[in-house]
Amino acid sequence: MNFTLVYSAILLLLSNAGVYSGGFRKITIMLCGMGLLMWLFVGAVPLGLLSLFLIFALATRTFCARRWWRFPALSGTAVLAALGIAFLMTQTEQRRITGLREAFPYQPMRELPAPVDSFPGGPLLAGTESRLDYLEGKVPGEGWRSRTHALQILHEENVSLFVRSSGFGQERMVRLPLGKIPDTLRPDELRVPQPNGGSSRTHAETTSEVRVLEWEFHELHRQGILDFINAENFGHVKDRRNVAGFQSHRFSKVPEPSDGWRVETLELVGLLLHAEPRVYVSAELPRMDELRKAPTRPLDRFEVAGLEQLRCDEDLVAADAPGGMRLLGGIRNAKQCIQCHDGKRGDLLGAFTYTLVKGR
Ligand code: HEC
Repeated sequence: MNFTLVYSAILLLLSNAGVYSGGFRKITIMLCGMGLLMWLFVGAVPLGLLSLFLIFALATRTFCARRWWRFPALSGTAVLAALGIAFLMTQTEQRRITGLREAFPYQPMRELPAPVDSFPGGPLLAGTESRLDYLEGKVPGEGWRSRTHALQILHEENVSLFVRSSGFGQERMVRLPLGKIPDTLRPDELRVPQPNGGSSRTHAETTSEVRVLEWEFHELHRQGILDFINAENFGHVKDRRNVAGFQSHRFSKVPEPSDGWRVETLELVGLLLHAEPRVYVSAELPRMDELRKAPTRPLDRFEVAGLEQLRCDEDLVAADAPGGMRLLGGIRNAKQCIQCHDGKRGDLLGAFTYTLVKGR
């Protein structure tokens, strides 16, 4: 049974009784107050309007009391007017919803090979495990105010969604954050050039052994991962053949400098889409829709040695290089990635290879 209709009927009856009895009048005014609050807080438009009209109608009760039919007629008109206005509003909402369904349809996801089993021999190293935990906590969630949730409702609840979103129904009176569906997308024209001006610099030979970093530059690398994955725009994944609103991984900015070092180049070592590990070459920071067709290069000596370490569960390795420093940081399968990437938590999905130089 529809909550709004029942509530309206009760209000109608009580308000009519309220013309003759002070007790009923008080209850009616209280329920009207609640109706206004529901309008304010959960967008229950029809109840709010009806409550407003009835409060006005009750104010005219001395006028109404002279003819028995005046109040029923007035309050009946109030109900019709409130439902009518709300109906017109829901028509607009319905058009918006249809438009969003067409703009963000279910689409099959690109074939994605599962990651190689990165650590067949037991659990992750303790440090790596706790960093993965921390990263997972920073990935924007799928709560009920999220874009993902709005997309799910948009597609999976066909029945009178419009009725709910404007507060007609009882199940979900809270407004859906439909605006998020288009608004959180990163603009297509957003390009982030490599900070060194885009010339794919020949990778300097390193001048030291590859060393494991326990804490330095981890924050820089984490910021990079979180920005790149673009988790707010993962979309709703019903299954691999039905994904709505996915925007591919891409950077929106250069990671902030850290300890007086700034990023000069940042490239993606792809581990999934090619038969062997390859580095995508681009004048811009990694953006998957572009990289699909981008040229690649083989890994250089530092990257080969570093990847070995990452495969042994380390997270971030470094080596000195003339005029700067090289970093290689693993991108691991977090619990939020598995729905698309398969494999198991902690597997390597890729790595970022950085050159850093001193100065801001
Ligand atoms: C909604 C699906 C989806 C989710 C969730 C997802 N990805 Fe992806 N990812 C893809 C797709 C699809 C590609 C292939 C490139 C493309 O088509 O955009 C990809 C590619 C990648 C690549 C590049 C692989 C290569 O070899 O080029 C990395 C790295 C990556 N994802 C990391 C992650 C991480 C880390 C997470 C979780 C924090 C994650 N992805 C979550 C869909 C997803």
